[in-house]
Amino acid sequence: MTRIRELPRLVVMASGRGSNLEAILDAIDRGELRARVVAVISDRPDAQALERAARRQIEALALDYRAFPDRDAYHEALLEHLVRIAPDLIVLAGYMRLLPGRIVARFPQRIVNIHPSLLPAFPGLNPHRQALDYGVKVSGCTVHFVDEGMDTGPIIMQAAVPVLEDDTEKSLAERILRREHELYPRAIAAVLDGRVRVEGRRVRIFAPGAAGDHEQDEQKEGDSRCKSGEP
Ligand code: GRF
Repeated sequence: MTRIRELPRLVVMASGRGSNLEAILDAIDRGELRARVVAVISDRPDAQALERAARRQIEALALDYRAFPDRDAYHEALLEHLVRIAPDLIVLAGYMRLLPGRIVARFPQRIVNIHPSLLPAFPGLNPHRQALDYGVKVSGCTVHFVDEGMDTGPIIMQAAVPVLEDDTEKSLAERILRREHELYPRAIAAVLDGRVRVEGRRVRIFAPGAAGDHEQDEQKEGDSRCKSGEP
């Protein structure tokens, strides 16, 4: 009897709005991402991401950071939940805290993050503000593996987005967010399919169905340029 392979289990961690969570769920619904979001965890009980999860009957877990005596206690509880849930991949989507070494070490190359800049430029807080202040003409978004640093792990995929003359933080963030919603499900699919190989800082990605010796760059040509239709 043929056994249907179980879908890879994702845990999404988010501190706020959860639009990337929604994009991931939509990609799953469209059949573009073979996975199941088994839980959404937030450090903020009022995170909109939790509402989105509950609406879709997904376990929505509020681990209120402020309710713990200290950072260690919070991370201990978080680790316990992650071990219980046993995800194949932990997806940080607007999760605003650094994960400690012991959590990162427990899930080697199984935690990914998305950041709204072309890393290593503008890591950390307010990346859109940083990009505008610096005066770059192109920014974008980056999906990367998570290590102990702040947005420092090996880069999986990037997409470039133009910075326009009259951009504000808000308009730039919106333009980048649209690309995030396309890029993140695609990067997650590559990781789950086992099409990603980490070699030091470099992450090689194989096209679907390609053997290791026919490596192709899944990063589409358009991702490294500004999208046509936008100046
Ligand atoms: C996104 O811009 C993401 O790149 C950054 O935080 C924001 C989260 O947005 N890490 P949302 O909660 O997914 O709407």
